[in-house]
Amino acid sequence: MAPFEMRCIVCGKVHDMDRPAYACTSCGNLLEVSLDIREAKERLAKSRFGKRALSVWRYRELIPVGPKTKVCSISEGGTPLIKCDALAERLGMKSLWIKFDGTNPTGSFKDRGMTVGITKAKELGMKTVTCASTGNTSASLAAYAGLAGIRCVVLIPEGKVALGKLAQAMMHGAIVVSVDGNFDQALDMVMRSSNKLGMYVLNSVNPFRIEGQKTAAYEVCDQLGGVSPEYLYIPVGNGGNSAAYWKGFTEYEELGFASGRPMIRGIQAAGAAPVADMLGRGLDELVPVAKPDTVATAIRIGNPANWRKTVRALKDSGGGASTVTDDEILSAQRLMASTQGIFAEPAGAAALAGLIKDLEQGRIDSSSEVVCVSTGHGLKDPDAAVAQCKRPKAIEPTVEALERLLGEL
Ligand SMILES: Cc1ncc(COP(=O)(O)O)c(C=O)c1O
Ligand SMILES: [Zn+2]
Repeated sequence: MAPFEMRCIVCGKVHDMDRPAYACTSCGNLLEVSLDIREAKERLAKSRFGKRALSVWRYRELIPVGPKTKVCSISEGGTPLIKCDALAERLGMKSLWIKFDGTNPTGSFKDRGMTVGITKAKELGMKTVTCASTGNTSASLAAYAGLAGIRCVVLIPEGKVALGKLAQAMMHGAIVVSVDGNFDQALDMVMRSSNKLGMYVLNSVNPFRIEGQKTAAYEVCDQLGGVSPEYLYIPVGNGGNSAAYWKGFTEYEELGFASGRPMIRGIQAAGAAPVADMLGRGLDELVPVAKPDTVATAIRIGNPANWRKTVRALKDSGGGASTVTDDEILSAQRLMASTQGIFAEPAGAAALAGLIKDLEQGRIDSSSEVVCVSTGHGLKDPDAAVAQCKRPKAIEPTVEALERLLGEL
């Protein structure tokens, strides 16, 4: 086998990696890259892998771009795995870690996938890249396309993208198109127009995005000293990131760099929970949610393109899925910010909200080793933060006024 092969996730048909492709030409299902573990071990043994700093490209030999290809990078990955003692104490847990991927260059985990996706776009000689986005994908794609000097077209659902993310996409120079519809409709437009318009799609249906994002799982194992946690809690929107983590944990164990693999608990917002619904009802196929809605706009997705991949990850890992309400998401967001100093956007607090619910419902033991993934930074969505906090207290510019105020509190 070649070091990497791109195959259909259902029928296994092998596809050419040197041409843009997202779906199987035989059965229409998504594609994924598979890694020849034996060959990879040999290559890694000859590399300086162990000496490199933690980052996406530390794992270059495990990422399917040519060895001579120049990578497009703005130092993504290498994000902190924060040991959250204060939060653990509040929740009555022995320990708790948060993988804060909101500290990536554009403030979300998307940068891991985008550095690889844009590097691949350059390798393929693409002149235009595109995506549909609830916000973070467009912010990240715009930044990397700008760096690579490639035209960037992003489609966003009208009025449903957080302010910070919109500002990023515009500042990085993307052509921002506002679609009078939801994310699922925008993605459908992207998929139907990309070939005709010569655009390379960098949504998570692109298998190279997943190859970048899987490095977060490698990092977690390295940061825990070569072991995987017992549980990984992660928000699920389009289903790419949860699938990427599972792929990463699986490969890292097979390579002999980590012992064990975690149970993956996929957390969805109650108003946009087709995956949790499918697993809860024991269905074989996903039933899309026609009008998804949640304050966590990043995961406001009713028809996740990666549902097969994420369902496989959640089932094979022995984890599963559950839902959290908007109130539970916002309360977890405030708790994280006020007790642990970690400011996440609402979707970036959904995993913690799911963990809190699982603890309350006795689905998980408080002594379990848990990593929660916080996927995006709180500054992305200032409106969602300000709306749930008290207004600043207004006083006259005198010491007496301040003293009076503090006395009243
Ligand atoms: C902050 C944040 N969290 C979670 C997700 C969901 O990731 P996925 O669509 O890969 O399931 C997204 C996707 O846009 C996101 O931006
Ligand atoms: Zn197929």
